[in-house]
Amino acid sequence: MDNTIIEEIKRLKKQRNAIILAHNYQREEIQDIADFVGDSLELSRQAVQVQCDVIVFCGVHFMAETAAILNPDKTVLLPEIEAGCPMADTVDVKELKEWIKKYPSSPVISYVNTTAEVKALSYACCTSANAPQIVKVVPFDSIIFVPDKNLADWVKKQVPYKEIIAWNGFCPTHHMIKKEDVIRTKKVHPDALVVVHPECRPEVIELADHVASTSGMVRFAKASQAKEFIIGTEIGLLYRLKKENPGKNFYPLKSTMICPNMKFTTLESVLLALKENQYVIKVPEDIRIKAYEAVQRMFTLVS
Ligand code: 13P
Ligand code: SF4
Repeated sequence: MDNTIIEEIKRLKKQRNAIILAHNYQREEIQDIADFVGDSLELSRQAVQVQCDVIVFCGVHFMAETAAILNPDKTVLLPEIEAGCPMADTVDVKELKEWIKKYPSSPVISYVNTTAEVKALSYACCTSANAPQIVKVVPFDSIIFVPDKNLADWVKKQVPYKEIIAWNGFCPTHHMIKKEDVIRTKKVHPDALVVVHPECRPEVIELADHVASTSGMVRFAKASQAKEFIIGTEIGLLYRLKKENPGKNFYPLKSTMICPNMKFTTLESVLLALKENQYVIKVPEDIRIKAYEAVQRMFTLVS
């Protein structure tokens, strides 16, 4: 059954001159059919580089929207329209505008996990792969950082001389991890290195051997001499880690670290996306132009 679907996806992909981009948290079978699998930064770079008419984005809404911001001439499809990011949804645009008025000398740096409207109000975007570098190089002593308070805290530790006015958002999948979870898992695998995502709580980050974006974790595991790793991020990443590092062992920090939105996308929904041209992600041009500036500035600030 899956083989028939995969063949049909391949046929339609060719017919429509489409490519499939998938985030590291996607289901195994989606990662297997994708042309490129990566973290938010890599996927946004890919979205600019790819030569095609259609991008099928297997991820969540803000990721497809970022691709649409960068590619007004391509059709960007999100196979599951309900696949959102609860952390991105914590930013209320009206309230953010009030913050901007209240702190006129503190421009907004927005994590890429935000809506196009929020990006349009931002000086620059950042991802988990470049947030500290972006905050370091922007020409301001004070910034508003939205929406992840945990990422803001991690950045602050590396750029202590700047003021960071942080939004109170967090990722439910990463924020659920407590210090005790690290201690417990470390007891079971005492020789394993603890690698966590910067969306984790500060007290969890404190216990980690390494902190990185999802693809940063893949690079770290490949380069490391260690043979065992405890992985503090959404469990979908373990598929890639195991596949690309045969001889090494990877354990989830907690097996319940699942982002339900990342799991919505199935082979069936990818097939339907290509067949029915759904769901087209488009950003109103006035918002897109401003949001484009913030995303583009991220690329130029840390090329
Ligand atoms: P990465 O950019 O590190 O892949 O993270 C995306 C994300 O949604 C983390 O929860
Ligand atoms: Fe959003 Fe967290 Fe899911 Fe990433 S893992 S998409 S930050 S809810």
